[in-house]
Amino acid sequence: MKCDIKNKNIILGVSGGIAAYKSVELLRLFKKSETNVRVIMTQNAKWFVGQLTFEALSENPVSDSLFLKEGNDASIKHIQWAQEADAVVIAPATANIIGKIAGGIADDALSTFILAVTAPILICPSMNTNMYESKAVQRNLKTLKKDGFTIIDPSEGELACGTTGPGRMPEPEEILDRLLWRLSPKDLQNKKILVTAGPTQEHLDPVRFISNPSSGKMGYAIAKAAEYRGADVTLVSGPSQLLDPVNVNTIRVKSAEEMGSAVFEQFETVDIVIKAAAVSDYRADEQAKQKIKKDAIEKAVSLKKNIDILKELGKKKKDQILVGFAAETESLEKNAGKKLKDKNLDMIVGNIVGGPTSGFAADTNVATLFYKDGKKESLNEMSKEALAHTILDRIIKGV
Ligand code: CTP
Repeated sequence: MKCDIKNKNIILGVSGGIAAYKSVELLRLFKKSETNVRVIMTQNAKWFVGQLTFEALSENPVSDSLFLKEGNDASIKHIQWAQEADAVVIAPATANIIGKIAGGIADDALSTFILAVTAPILICPSMNTNMYESKAVQRNLKTLKKDGFTIIDPSEGELACGTTGPGRMPEPEEILDRLLWRLSPKDLQNKKILVTAGPTQEHLDPVRFISNPSSGKMGYAIAKAAEYRGADVTLVSGPSQLLDPVNVNTIRVKSAEEMGSAVFEQFETVDIVIKAAAVSDYRADEQAKQKIKKDAIEKAVSLKKNIDILKELGKKKKDQILVGFAAETESLEKNAGKKLKDKNLDMIVGNIVGGPTSGFAADTNVATLFYKDGKKESLNEMSKEALAHTILDRIIKGV
C-alpha cells in the first residue's frame, strides 16, 4: 500500500533560524508531490524569509499571528487548520519552539496550533551545535519523543555560525522521505527483508570490467518502501550512484562473488529476499594484476561463470519468501516462468528491458508478476516506487 501524500493537507511550521531558507525548497518539494501546503511562521522566522515567498509558493495565505489582520484571516484559523491537517513538519525548529512545545506553551500562532493538532508532527531541530547539545534542548527533545513527536536528527557539518557538528537541518529530500515513512502503514513490522540492487562489476584487469546498465533504482525503491512499512531492511548493493536509504543497513559490494558472500551471510536470519540486482553472469577466469595491453586482450581473457546467487538461495530456502527479477528482451512468460521454477522462487517480477519506460535506469517499469502457482498478473506502467509497494503488497498477501 503506497503512502501517497497527493492531496494531503500538510502544515509547514517555520521558526526563526538561518535554515529557514531551506524550508522554501521543502515547500516546493511538497508542492511537487501535489500536496496542499499551509505555512505557519513565527515572527522571528520573518527575519530570514519573507511571508510573501511562502504565500506565493504555497498558493495559500500564511498564518503568522493569533489575531485577525486586515485581509488575512489565516491568522485566526489555527483550530480549523489543526482539524484539517494530515501531517505537520516544523522545519527549521529552533531551541525556542522546541522548548515551547515541550512545555505546552501557546503564545503565538505556531505553538498554539501545535497544541490543537492531532495529526503526526515531525520536528527538524536546527541550531548551533552547543545549543543543540545543551542539556535543556536534549531534555526537551526527549520529552517530545516520549510524547509521540517524530524528531528528525540534524545532520553534521559546517554550520552558518562557523562551528562544525550536529545542528544542520537535513536536506529537504530527507525530510520528505521521513514524512513518507511517518505516514506509511507499518504492515511489515517485525519482518527482516534482504534486498539486492544495482549491477555487479567483474574486473578483467585494474582498468576494465564486465557490467551492465542497471542503476539500482528498482532495488533501492524496494528497500525504501520496505523501510517505510516498518521492516528491518538490509540492502546489498552493487555499484550505484544512489545514496544509502535512511535507516537501511546498506552493504556496498562490487563483484558477484562479494554480493553472494554478503547475501549468504544474511540469508538464515531473514524472512524475505527480493533479488533485484542485475548480477553479471561471467567474470574473468583470472583477474590480471596489471593493465592488459590491447593487442593481448583476446588471448589473455577467458571467462568463467559466476555463481547464481538466487538459485543457491532457492536450494537453501526453508520458510523464507524468495522473489526474483527477470529482465528479458523477448519471450517474457517462457523465460520468467523457467527462472521461477529453476530457482525455486515464490514470485518473479518479469519485465522487458530496453524501452524508455521499462528496465534499466528508467524511472518507471512495466512488469508482469508470475507466481509459483502458475498465475500471472500484468501490471500497468508505473513508477518504480509504486511497483516496489505493489510487490510488497503481494508478499504480505501471501504471494
Ligand atoms: N541472479 C543471481 N545470480 C546470478 C544471476 C542472476 O542471483 N549470477 C538473479 C537476479 O538477481 C535475478 C534473477 O536471478 O533476480 C534473474 O536474473 P537474470 O539476469 O534475468 O537471469 P539469469 O538467471 O542470469 O539468466 P539469463 O541471463 O540467461 O537470462
